[in-house]
Amino acid sequence: MANRHEKVEKNVGLMIVLTLVAVSFGGLAEIVPLFWQQATTEPLKTLRPYTALELEGKDIYIREGCNVCHTQMVRPLRAETERYGPYSVAGEDVWEHPHVWGSKRTGPDLARVGQRYSDDWHRAHLRNPRDVVPESNMPGYPWLHETPVDWSDTETTLHVFKDMFGVPYTDEDIAEQMANIEGKWSEATEEDALVAYLQQLGTERTRR
Ligand code: HEC
Repeated sequence: MANRHEKVEKNVGLMIVLTLVAVSFGGLAEIVPLFWQQATTEPLKTLRPYTALELEGKDIYIREGCNVCHTQMVRPLRAETERYGPYSVAGEDVWEHPHVWGSKRTGPDLARVGQRYSDDWHRAHLRNPRDVVPESNMPGYPWLHETPVDWSDTETTLHVFKDMFGVPYTDEDIAEQMANIEGKWSEATEEDALVAYLQQLGTERTRR
């Protein structure tokens, strides 16, 4: 017995392999059940899929790196729930592809920022944060309100979400979104899309 153990201790390669095997049991026991647990796979009852405008807004959020400075993950700690609102649950992110939980907070968490400020506040803040928060060190994004939304991939994206990710858009929903793109959103700027995205963040918790 002692000899066999000695063999492992003196053979780094074998030691690494056996360590990985041992650790992966722990990982499997914790991670695998999450794929079947209702609490982590079922969307919240109040969740609704993004509109095309919000979807484009989320893309702009990622493109501009907002998620590098902002998390969207309220932890179940009193200091966080008092500041931001109800802690995050898996059910609100079931249709997020990709999720934007983030890992660093240079600015505040945004998971519950929807409806906390007016659209006008967001527009002023995005163009020059210091106009509304004098001590802010967030960069401005003044080009967004001059840039029209690029809708060229939207229809494909909606179909990918529906067919590959199982987000419950119907064909009628997608047709309606496309009609809005031709209609009420035909002049929409990237700022409009981003504000629409920000204004719905966290509202699934209160939506009926
Ligand atoms: C370099 C880091 C940084 C980046 C990048 C950044 N922010 Fe911020 N953001 C901050 C800081 C710091 C604050 C707090 C001061 C303020 O309100 O301006 C903030 C505040 C905010 C707030 C107000 C939150 C609240 O609860 O008061 C919103 C909304 C926001 N940012 C959205 C965005 C969006 C959208 C983007 C991308 C277009 C972005 N931020 C990019 C640092 C950043």
